[in-house]
Amino acid sequence: MCGIVGYIGKKYNALNVLISGLERLEYRGYDSAGIAYVEGKTLKIEKEKGKISNLKSAIDVNIPSNLGIGHTRWATHGIASKINSHPHKVGKITIVHNGIIENYEDLKNELINNGVKFKSETDTEVACALLNKLYEDTNDMNETLCLFQKRVKGTYALGIICDDDYNTLYALKNKSPLIIAFGENENYIASDVPAILEFTNKYITLNDGEFAKITENKVTCYKDNEVINKKINEFEGSAESIEKNGYEHFMLKEIFEQPEVFKKTVFKYTENGIKSLIKIMPDFKKYKSIKIVACGSAMHAGIVGKSLIEEYGNIPVDVEIASEFRYKKLFIDKDTLVILVSQSGETADTLAALEIAKEKGCDTLGIINVLESSIARSSDIVLYTKAGSEIAVATTKAYSAQITLLSLIALNIACSKKLISEDEIKEILSEIKNLPIKIQSLLDKKDDYKEIAKKIYNKNNIFFIGRDIDYALCMEGSLKLKEISYINSQAYAAGELKHGTISLIEENTPVIAIVTNESISEKTISNIKEVKSRGADVVLVTTESLNKESDFYNEKIVIPNTHKLLQALLTVIPLQLLSYEIAKLRNCNIDKPKNLAKSVTVE
Ligand code: G6P
Repeated sequence: MCGIVGYIGKKYNALNVLISGLERLEYRGYDSAGIAYVEGKTLKIEKEKGKISNLKSAIDVNIPSNLGIGHTRWATHGIASKINSHPHKVGKITIVHNGIIENYEDLKNELINNGVKFKSETDTEVACALLNKLYEDTNDMNETLCLFQKRVKGTYALGIICDDDYNTLYALKNKSPLIIAFGENENYIASDVPAILEFTNKYITLNDGEFAKITENKVTCYKDNEVINKKINEFEGSAESIEKNGYEHFMLKEIFEQPEVFKKTVFKYTENGIKSLIKIMPDFKKYKSIKIVACGSAMHAGIVGKSLIEEYGNIPVDVEIASEFRYKKLFIDKDTLVILVSQSGETADTLAALEIAKEKGCDTLGIINVLESSIARSSDIVLYTKAGSEIAVATTKAYSAQITLLSLIALNIACSKKLISEDEIKEILSEIKNLPIKIQSLLDKKDDYKEIAKKIYNKNNIFFIGRDIDYALCMEGSLKLKEISYINSQAYAAGELKHGTISLIEENTPVIAIVTNESISEKTISNIKEVKSRGADVVLVTTESLNKESDFYNEKIVIPNTHKLLQALLTVIPLQLLSYEIAKLRNCNIDKPKNLAKSVTVE
């Protein structure tokens, strides 16, 4: 939530770096943006409401500058407006901030009593005023930052410029992500690596409680005002990997990357057959139960995982919404494995859930996409999804990579407990090899889904129904549709619909019905007939083997058969593309839907 970027050096013009960084960070928030830069001996601030493009057209990016900080905002405290947008400047201190200062009201009252006058409604201006006050008291930035850490409760990644020293940029972090990247006689700060990937791929990650003093040729990191050494990482992806590469939207590009992502994610675990899977994965046998904790689509991936792990691994699994988990009574201990699923590895609620699980003595396993992210660093064990950078706010390839790993966990447990026959293992391994081609065959039918989209894109309500894993996929399909097309949509367990929600089914209400599980297909089909006979227009999503001509649907999407362990990875493809085509027909901002942000680092 909110993206920050900063530059110090002479190689590039700071304004160019800031604007290009902000464009890359726009997925983190896009209700307003701003920059502060030093021109000659003066610090200047420019802010605009709305997208980065508004800011870009309001400034002259050719103004020479060697130092600057920039911010793209997702409003928390105070409406989206020019005055509330960052950077904020109080006295000699200018900052950009990602996070929430929880005790800002107390601090604000204290500062008002000290004569500070505030212009905005933000917690960030309070943080800025506090930094300025502490700097006035100490005249030393290091001391100021240490005192600030003691006074402030909440989450923050800060980029800071002090008027007394335009040769230094400061960075401070607590529970919001922040990296420092290294160029040649020029250095950067950013919320994530892709923001500065066109300039450098060498970076360090600041940990909570650490801060850094950055000049054009030196980076010094501190913890409790003591210098600390940090290992420099190299980011694997290229700058090209974060371009659209000819696709109309990042979301479409990312949907089409799924065959490759699947290969990359499973390869490491299955290159030498089942042996490598058992060798590389942790020993799950020692746990009596598993909790999967996550938010949004990652939580939906967890529900697919629950079904597979329970069925194949014969171990009870609960899926918890991270924001609920963190405040409820928990019955977990060392016999419970807690699996945290997160694309970004920074989601505040999931990170808090991880800390609670550790306090309770549980082992924690992170299924994470972003290397070195907070949840990855804090989990006892990490399994990385290999989805690469995901830019579209609505997740697609990272979600399916999460399901891939959860399926492999189910297979691993089944193998290590000897619950699965050699023949079935062989069948699964062979299906794993075939799956990218099968995913591709569904991607190739994009235009067919577009024809279906044309029939339903102007409806106000769309329902998804299914049972078991198909129900979990309904939740994700429905969320994708809501996120990017703004159509009201509900996912229902097919058998539950008649207990109330069926009253909403009217003549021509679209119902997307998923039927892929043979053992319960007849049950779901009965439920589909119930909505059909009440006027629904049914889009049936079913497998080749269950496909039959009938009059209980209006449209049909047929997906290839595969082993049940992998079926969800195929079923989700038409759902993603259907949402995409519907959103496109409705002229929505597909990559950056309104009100959303990709990395949610606030509660
Ligand atoms: C946001 C995103 C969702 C994502 C969720 C969890 O709401 O818009 O796409 O599923 O956060 O994010 P995570 O990074 O933890 O997977």
